[in-house]
Amino acid sequence: MIGFFFVVIIIAFLNSLSNARNTIAQTPPMGWMSWELFRCNIDCSDKTKCISEWMYKDQADVLHAEGYKEAGYLGVHMDDCWEANTRDPNTNELYANTTRFPSGLAELGKYIHNKGLKFGLYTDEGAYTCGGYQGSQHNEELDAQTFAKWGVDYIKVDGCTSNLTYLKEGYKKMGQALELSGRDIEYSCSYPAYMTTTEDKKPFYEFIMDGCNEWRNWWDIECKWDSLSSIIDYFGNASHILAPFAGPGHWHDPDMLIIGGNCITNIEEETQMAIWSIMAAPLIMGNDLRKVTTDSKEILLNKAAIAVNQDPLGQMGVRIVNKDNNYDTQIWYRNLFNGDIAVAFY
Ligand code: GLA
Repeated sequence: MIGFFFVVIIIAFLNSLSNARNTIAQTPPMGWMSWELFRCNIDCSDKTKCISEWMYKDQADVLHAEGYKEAGYLGVHMDDCWEANTRDPNTNELYANTTRFPSGLAELGKYIHNKGLKFGLYTDEGAYTCGGYQGSQHNEELDAQTFAKWGVDYIKVDGCTSNLTYLKEGYKKMGQALELSGRDIEYSCSYPAYMTTTEDKKPFYEFIMDGCNEWRNWWDIECKWDSLSSIIDYFGNASHILAPFAGPGHWHDPDMLIIGGNCITNIEEETQMAIWSIMAAPLIMGNDLRKVTTDSKEILLNKAAIAVNQDPLGQMGVRIVNKDNNYDTQIWYRNLFNGDIAVAFY
């Protein structure tokens, strides 16, 4: 009985925190991100394949024109390697590489917004990003203001080249800076992925207090089944620990969808769509939208899966499993707002 009251009090506490923080990300974010396939490709001999304004505009065009936007995929998320090698010597602001982004990021932001889409960007709580570009360490306020000025709607804040002591301070500082920036900027924190500990030891309440709207818990996904299945197992093992901390405004992020990346089978793609939906995970595609096959596109646009993912109750599904079968078969379930229960068989 005491245990039950304790859980009720914790849940009420978390709800009050998220209410106090903001109303951003009431359902998991949906969109497209460059990292999985385009990595840090700065060789623009083919302008449409490098980290450049041309490539992002192309992807925004497809999101807008080919039914993704209507399905809810709104974010065009730039990842690492957009930055110039230095900060602006006069203002100390970050700015984009001028050869690959000659129009500047404010203009790119406008382009994305004019398509009715959202502008996602990347930085890091270290002095440098994972790709070795300028990071936001000690410049949180200035950078949050710069992002707001450019019309950024979502910022992924990575944790390379720093240490856990600074990350603890830095993510909090960035959360406050975003709050003060005057713009609703969704805040994706990679901090938990850099903690060398298990999920039951991670202070999720602290990430929520810092204003994180979602956080990466674990390793980067790679475009292959082994990687995808290890992520499903990891989150499945931890699902009962993680579920109480997910909800409107704060989500666990198992990393991008690899559907449409031409690296797993259609059945495996369906598996990812189902598990990500039932987990209330961000649905951020890591493909090249210009090359997605009809079959993969059908999976990505599956209305029922998306409805489960975006259900307003925001409950993260959990795995119930018979360990004796070595997790070869799994059942996941999740309560929905209207009283229904969504179930996924793996
Ligand atoms: C880390 C992140 C990735 C990506 C790269 C960019 O590895 O986990 O998602 O952002 O950095 O350099």
